[in-house]
This record gives sequence, C-alpha cells and structure tokens, in this order.
Amino acid sequence: HGTSRVNDRGHLEIGGVDVIDLAKEYGTPLYIYDVALIRERARAFKQTFEKHGVKAQVAYASKAFSTMAMVQLVEEEGLSLDVVSGGELYTALKAGFPPERIHFHGNNKSYEELEMALQHKIGCFVVDNFYELSLLEQLSKQHGVTTSILLRVTPGIEAHTHDYILTGQEDSKFGFDLNNGQADEAFEKALTSESFKVLGLHCHIGSQIFETTGFVLAAQKMFKKIGDWKEKFGFVPEVVNLGGGFGIRYTNEDDPIPASVYVEQIIAEVKKQVAELGIAMPEIWIEPGRSLVGDAGTTIYSIGSRKEVPNVRQYVAVDGGMSDNIRPALYEAKYEAVLANRVLDENEEVVSIAGKCCESGDMLIWDLPLPKAQAGDYLAVFCTGAYGYSMANNYNRIPRPAVVFVENGQAQLVVKRETYEDLVKLDVPLKAKVNK
Ligand code: LLP
Repeated sequence: HGTSRVNDRGHLEIGGVDVIDLAKEYGTPLYIYDVALIRERARAFKQTFEKHGVKAQVAYASKAFSTMAMVQLVEEEGLSLDVVSGGELYTALKAGFPPERIHFHGNNKSYEELEMALQHKIGCFVVDNFYELSLLEQLSKQHGVTTSILLRVTPGIEAHTHDYILTGQEDSKFGFDLNNGQADEAFEKALTSESFKVLGLHCHIGSQIFETTGFVLAAQKMFKKIGDWKEKFGFVPEVVNLGGGFGIRYTNEDDPIPASVYVEQIIAEVKKQVAELGIAMPEIWIEPGRSLVGDAGTTIYSIGSRKEVPNVRQYVAVDGGMSDNIRPALYEAKYEAVLANRVLDENEEVVSIAGKCCESGDMLIWDLPLPKAQAGDYLAVFCTGAYGYSMANNYNRIPRPAVVFVENGQAQLVVKRETYEDLVKLDVPLKAKVNK
C-alpha cells in the first residue's frame, strides 16, 4: 500500500527508497515514514469537507507521532494540531506551527502548561474539568484575554475497541458527563464568565473504531444538549468537534472504512441536527491521529538469535521490541511483517517474533509465516506509524530508534538515533564516585 513496493533486488522499497539501504545507513531498528501517504490521508479528510462545502478543521492528534518534522508536514498540509501536553505544545511551537491552529487537550493541564499556551496565544483550549475551568479563568483574567474554549463532554457511548483506548463511556476520566448535569453546570459557568468564548462542544469516543454509528450517536447526544442550551441561553455553537478514532488496517482481521465515509456520515448527521434546531451550520472539527500516520510508518529490524522450543514454537528475535513498539505488549496489538531483504521468497515456516527486552511479554508478532529467517536478515513490520515512536521508551536502557522520512526517492533523517551518551545525559552520578 502507499508507495511501498518490491524492487528488482527483491527488497522492500518505500517512497522510492530501498529500505535495506536505509537500514545500512541509519542502523536498526529504524522507523520509516511514507510522506506521500501521510499527505494523501490528510488531503482525503480535508477534501471530503470541501466537497460538501462544510467549514472544518482537521486537527492532527500529535500524540500519535510528534516530532518537529511531522509538525512541519502537518503545517504544510494545512491541518490544525491537537496537543495534549506542554511537551507536544513545545514541539509544535519549536517547529513554527501557527499557534492559532493549535488545540490544547488533556485531563490535567497544569498551571504552567496553561500559562505557556496562553502566552503563545493558541487557538483553542478543550476544557476537560471544573478544576481546569477555574484555573483557566483565573489565568485568562491575569492575561486580560477572552479565551476560546470547547467543553469536552462524555456522551456515554461505548465504542467497540480495547478497554484502555475507549474514552467516551460514562465511567471515564475524561470530560464533563452529558447525562448527569455536569456538562450543564460547566457550560453555564463558562458562558457567564467574561473570560471565555465558548465555541462549542468536543467529544472523543475512542480509538481504532470501525463503525460510523458511534460518531452519529455522539453527534445526536451533543446536539440534544445544544438544543437545551439554545432554549435556555440562546446558545448557538460555532464549532462541534467529534474527536478522532478512525480505525486502520493493521492485519487482514481489520476491516476499516475509508476516512471519507466517516466524515460524510458525521456531516450528514450534523446537517440533520442543525436543520432540526433551525440554527446555522457550525464548523466541524475532527482529530485524526492514527488514521493519518498509522499505515505510513514501517519499522525495520535486524534479525538476530533464534530459539526452538521443539514441537511448539520457533522464536526469532529482533534488535528492538517493546522499547520501540509497546502496543503488542500493552494491547495485544497485531501486526504484519515481511523479510525486507527477501520479500519475494516463499514462506517456509511459521515463527514468533521476539523483542530483545528482558520480559517474556516482549513479543512483537505471534505465528508469522516467513521464509527461513536468519541473522543478517531484516524484518519490516508494517503500520507502526501511530503510537509507536511516540510511546517508545528506554526500558533496559535501549536507545530509541532513528526516524527517516522518505518521499520521491529522497530520504531525510528526522529524528536521530539515541546514543548511550544520551541515555546517561540526565543522570547525576554520586560525587565521590565519578568515573574520571
Ligand atoms: N482526540 C482525542 C481527544 C484523543 O484522546 C485521541 C486519542 C485522538 C483524538 C486521536 O485518536 P486516533 O485518531 O489516533 O485514534 N495509545 C493507543 C491509542 C490512544 C489514543 C488516545 N487518544 C494505541 O496505541 O492504540
């Protein structure tokens, strides 16, 4: 998919670049991003809104993969940006992203984070809770500004996905509950405060969702509330934000629908609700993360040791694992992979791909058909672009991989490989024992 193909050396090629050449130049594990595919995904979202004449902001959820180069690419494609921490905000600002297109999320934004965002005049705060509402009001007063906000609400919808990445259900740490008066109380507070301009409502029902029903239900619930507030306060929203969560194909078990279909269903429902209430069409905002970058990322590993458990399993180990991709260990996430240097070879065995971390749960893929793989071969694991590098860690003091962008036959290093020196850079040794 994307620009991936097999070249005449039998190697995997992405963006017109031989991944084995990249692995030799930059080392492994290596994250490779197909930039053309990210652009294509970004444009598909935007064009669907344009086609229907609906004003929109497509905000890339940068938690999926946040680096300066990625933020620059998002800027080039004219998207907005969702950040959830001071660190993501800092990355965006450092990359020169226009602050007015930044939306700030999070269920426990600190005083310092809010202060930083206000100083840089970001476009919108997605207010999650009462504590934030009063902190932000106080800070807005100090700054003498009217702050644009969306209220994050929890619609009480259970999307079908992994428990840990499900966020719209009632018993969630996120947002004001739509059903028990919390959202009403928050709204009245925000509306009557001189420090706020309430743009509208936000909700995010979960991640890796394969149905449009959840989005439609969420829109219905939000508009029911908007109807109440229109009656009571004459409120008309300028923005309705339906979050992200559009599912992608990791393996053949996944059956995603095209981005345009989600967007079209959302547009249709919002139009219907708006007509019923007799109000002007608000802007629709969405926040795709995974569906913009997920299948654009591929990880290349070097294969090392093997272990046979006779009559049970062949373990084939790679030079990374849960340190660069924690999703299999955390969510039992499934991936597909090929031998990147012998893509066309016949599969000869079924193996299980082990990481190199000291933990039995550090398995990347169970039961993968492959040609007879040995030390010196390279494994390409597909669809690692979202929540891979961004959730990478230094468990076992393994340095984090490098990241390369490829497009039109050109490769560009966008994150350097961590060094051992980097790993100890923040350590403060005991004074008497400094190794001179
Ligand atoms: N907006 C909000 C408010 C979110 O909480 C999220 C994801 C998104 C947008 C983007 O969702 P996406 O389009 O990427 O599904 N680490 C997990 C995913 C956690 C998602 C958290 N929130 C994973 O690796 O599957």
